[in-house]
Amino acid sequence: MNHNHDDNISLRNATIDDATFVYALRFGPDVRKVSWSTSGVSFRNHRNYFNKHLSEYQMIYVGNTCVGFIRVNDEISIYLHKPYRGKGIGTQVLNRFSGRATIKEGNEQSRKAFMNAGFQQVGIIMEKKVKRI
Ligand SMILES: CC(C)(COP(=O)(O)OP(=O)(O)OC[C@H]1O[C@@H](n2cnc3c(N)ncnc32)[C@H](O)[C@@H]1OP(=O)(O)O)[C@@H](O)C(=O)NCCC(=O)NCCS
Repeated sequence: MNHNHDDNISLRNATIDDATFVYALRFGPDVRKVSWSTSGVSFRNHRNYFNKHLSEYQMIYVGNTCVGFIRVNDEISIYLHKPYRGKGIGTQVLNRFSGRATIKEGNEQSRKAFMNAGFQQVGIIMEKKVKRI
């Protein structure tokens, strides 16, 4: 699909006032299932954590509407509100970044957005969740 929202998309640095928005998006029910951490996080804990890591977050705008956020530390993660997914916005934002991301198996929409933005799959991951003895 050839979308072109690029002119309308902008980023700004996060402030502590974005804690509520980020919490709702990051720990909302539809994101939990595509996320690595599935346990509940209280808003208070989230806010403390978010405050310490503020400089890693940028808020994503389409026109004047805040539609999501991107976090860049040793890895990149990006979250858009549901009505704004699948319209090429994620790809357009990711075009502006380089780095590394770990995408949960089965999250095809995310995998495709990263691929469309020029990310390549590198290596394989070996994981064991429970010790044998
Ligand atoms: C991941 C996310 C940021 C991607 O942004 P986006 O704007 O939705 O992605 P885009 O529209 O740019 O691209 C999505 C691609 O996946 C495709 N796609 C959408 N749903 C799909 C599905 N169920 N299976 C396979 N492909 C799918 C789209 O067709 C599009 O590819 P195309 O342009 O080649 O047709 C966004 O979907 C999101 O916030 N998801 C929930 C949070 C999340 O999973 N974050 C990733 C953690 S790193």
